[in-house]
Amino acid sequence: MAKSWATLGVDLHLDPTGTGTGTGTGTGTGTGTGTGVRRGLTDALRDAVRTGRLAPGTRLPSSRSLATDLGIARNTVADAYADLVAEGWLTARQGSGTRVAERAVVPPTDTTPPRRLRSRPTYDLVPGTPDLAAFPRTEWLKAARRALTAAPYQALGYGDPRGRVELRTALAAYLSRARGVGADPEHILISAGISNGLRLIGTALRARGSRAIAVESYGLTAHWQILAEAGLRTRPLPFDQLGTNPAQLTDEPAVLLTPAHQFPMGVPLHHDRRSAVVDWARRTGGLVLEDDYDGEFRYDRQPIGALQGLDPNHVVYLGTASKSLAPGLRLAWMVLPPSLMEEIAKAKGGIDTCGVLDQLTLAEFITSGAYDRHVRAARLRYRRRRDTLVEALAQHAPDVHATGIAAGFHAVLSLPPGTEQSVVQAAAWQGLALHTLSFYRHEHAVAAPLDALVVGYGTPPDHAWAGAVEALCRVLP
Ligand SMILES: Cc1ncc(COP(=O)(O)O)c(C=O)c1O
Repeated sequence: MAKSWATLGVDLHLDPTGTGTGTGTGTGTGTGTGTGVRRGLTDALRDAVRTGRLAPGTRLPSSRSLATDLGIARNTVADAYADLVAEGWLTARQGSGTRVAERAVVPPTDTTPPRRLRSRPTYDLVPGTPDLAAFPRTEWLKAARRALTAAPYQALGYGDPRGRVELRTALAAYLSRARGVGADPEHILISAGISNGLRLIGTALRARGSRAIAVESYGLTAHWQILAEAGLRTRPLPFDQLGTNPAQLTDEPAVLLTPAHQFPMGVPLHHDRRSAVVDWARRTGGLVLEDDYDGEFRYDRQPIGALQGLDPNHVVYLGTASKSLAPGLRLAWMVLPPSLMEEIAKAKGGIDTCGVLDQLTLAEFITSGAYDRHVRAARLRYRRRRDTLVEALAQHAPDVHATGIAAGFHAVLSLPPGTEQSVVQAAAWQGLALHTLSFYRHEHAVAAPLDALVVGYGTPPDHAWAGAVEALCRVLP
């Protein structure tokens, strides 16, 4: 007869009969009275106090209300309380009820020192995360307030598996304007990150009978892992200075690409190859999965429009708030060929799995213009950081060359051959978190591994940026 007891604001799972999953050890009969139940309740309460589940000073419910909650006799509760007062676990004072005694919690007997937490690096230059200190909290809160005020109460129910229509509508307009995506709100689906979107697509492809998918020679292992978990082998395509080469695409059902800014190499896909990959998709009925993870961040070149604009029937466009706002939001979007929507919604489980309040807030954030303002400010900040990085390298590490820096917020730093490992070790000593390029190389990639680092310049907050660049320059050859 285990019960959750929520009287007087205290939530506690108790089993006075000792027969459930609670902490009581008594052997009560569960009939509501008798010594067995009294012992069970006493044991359960003592255990809760000893382990700290009931904190010192906590006021316990009156014997009447606990008896009602647990379905036992009031006297049984009063007797259990009296036993515990006598033992010193509880105190009873006129006017202030029964409370957990101040010194009741027994310190743990285990004297093993706690395991040392892995110390955090002083500077984090691992690519992937934007400057979280610059999250637009005030504007976001304002948008949240407006969005919730305007939302119909029905918005708070189980939603459309595609996501809230307000967000899909806002995204359709934004993506068409800013990224050249041919988007209809009907064909947009909100997911918990691009990673979750890939999981849904992988599941749908596997359900169609597919077993493999083409990917790039360099990319995110986590994404390949997600596809593998969905049952798809990943086969890397060759990579050169024009980007990923689609010439070897054959009968794969799909290819995953980062056309606007290859991750992590940083080059845009050459226009001949953009056409070639779309031709391949049309010819074979294959799908191009376009990961446009940092499409908002372009510096010294004309923004490269989304590939999806060339053929919305064969390209799945994947965008995310993880770079432009924060990955913790877990909000991303897919623009799907109409023929795929039903399968993906099914793979999502037929319900909306992304929180509605954040979706409504993002919709309001976009339509009010706050998103554009935030992106413009972030672009400026990252561009300045990139410039200081390039200047510092020229001055302090002239043998190191930064590439892939016209967009996004990471750079590939090519190192003199044979120096990668010593740089990584020196970085660890300096408290500098960095990734090597080999970390992003597919295990079956044919190109020879290169000595290089992938340096993210988004993550450190502004005040730490100069220190991070200095520390980086100290470890470079
Ligand atoms: C290449 C690439 N795609 C997508 C993402 C974003 O993934 P998500 O939306 O799951 O946070 C990242 C983030 O690091 C990335 O590097």
